[in-house]
Amino acid sequence: MTTEPSATSTSSSLVGQHSPNPPVLPDGYHIEEGRLHLHGLDLASLADYWMTRAGQEDAPLTIRYMPSVRTKFQKARDAFEQATRQTNYPGTVRLAYASKANPNHAVIKAAMGAGADYECSSRVDVSIVRYAIEQGWLTPDRLIIANGFKTPGYADALIGVAQAGHPGVIPVFDSIEEVQHFADSGIPLNVGMRYRVSGHNERFGMDEAELFETQQLIAESPNLTLVLFHALQLFPAIDNPEYVASLENAIEVFKRLRVCCPSLHWFDVGGGLPTQLAEPDDLQEWMVSIQQMALRHCGMEHAPDLIIESGRYLTGSHQLEAFKVVKTKVVNGVTYYVLGGGIMSNLPDAWALGAEFPVAALNHCDAPYHDVRLAGLTCDPDDVYPPKRDKFVSLPQDADGLLVAFLEIGAYQDMLGGEGGAKHCLLSEGATILIGDDPDYPTRITYQPPQSIESVLSHLGYGQEPFSAF
Ligand SMILES: Cc1ncc(COP(=O)(O)O)c(C=O)c1O
Repeated sequence: MTTEPSATSTSSSLVGQHSPNPPVLPDGYHIEEGRLHLHGLDLASLADYWMTRAGQEDAPLTIRYMPSVRTKFQKARDAFEQATRQTNYPGTVRLAYASKANPNHAVIKAAMGAGADYECSSRVDVSIVRYAIEQGWLTPDRLIIANGFKTPGYADALIGVAQAGHPGVIPVFDSIEEVQHFADSGIPLNVGMRYRVSGHNERFGMDEAELFETQQLIAESPNLTLVLFHALQLFPAIDNPEYVASLENAIEVFKRLRVCCPSLHWFDVGGGLPTQLAEPDDLQEWMVSIQQMALRHCGMEHAPDLIIESGRYLTGSHQLEAFKVVKTKVVNGVTYYVLGGGIMSNLPDAWALGAEFPVAALNHCDAPYHDVRLAGLTCDPDDVYPPKRDKFVSLPQDADGLLVAFLEIGAYQDMLGGEGGAKHCLLSEGATILIGDDPDYPTRITYQPPQSIESVLSHLGYGQEPFSAF
């Protein structure tokens, strides 16, 4: 994920400073009879019921609303189709799910089920690719775009998937040294190269001279065919002049490479789509601008096929984290709502990157609101929200039995904070409910129990012999 300060921030307008009003709610949420609803589901009732069943006072409830992933994929696909009709773009446009954002089983199932290609980034990720192939989610028509540094184990895992018969594997070389391992395998593979935009100093990709050298080596390897050019990874992709300038730079390099390598036809613009769109037709307009740019540089005859990789946009709205307010405390005039669970471990990008999320009450929504700060149950001074000390969130004054949720999460938090294991101040993981995991039963709920004390302790070496003697 990108580390730009605004990388994960959603709508900071929901973090009130001196506006004790109920927040503006993201798509799909509304308040009815003082309770927050998500697509008609009474979230307070759900949270009450499942938190009681989980029986932990010090852990939140994670609610994953899986139709969100499918709907967002469909919205993007529709927007890209509309754009293609508008520009008469002759190439295809594909959307790959960047699994690094959230490789949870239910998320991969939803994204693949909706029709996404797979963007993977590590050796273990390839095990999920294999699983998805076995389940029939990743059919042979899907692409498996493999970014990330190709350590030998990762390279072998990718070669293994191709050898087992999936035709869509595309290792994207980050540097020329990565080519030989794949060439030596003798397994026929379509491959890509990652560009480092001129003037950029990040550690990924190759400059133009290195790309031409790498292309030459690929051409000399009989089993490798160069098909893909990975242009960049910049956030945000929309309304960002630097993004546009970088893309213009990249497509010119793509064009020059294509002259000596006609098999090169995918122009991969990477990720960077935001969780929430500022305007409903932002995606269509964004795609129109990319297609027009491609046509300006390459013409109708040589317009590339386009790939978009997306993590944050596809999964960043599907999850919410619900906490009980277990205590209130006023310190020097500032009201703290202490939540039953840790904020740091559950929303690591908030304290580490300053990311902001919509915060809403699930109940008491008709009560008067006031500005408060949120605090986690750990004894860490940084376990507070909003991350900026002079900011507040607006929540009901009636804190008795109050349930509070962070909305619009689901991309990157779980992987940065880790799933399972032992966490800060030994706060265990709460229960999860999955809603609409199966598209045929969009309101069906599946329950995953909370983490047990034994599970936490076993990760710390208790109850087993932790070290082998040599
Ligand atoms: C190569 C690559 N593609 C796609 C993504 C996903 O980006 P986003 O979550 O902004 O869609 C990332 C994120 O770091 C990435 O590194």
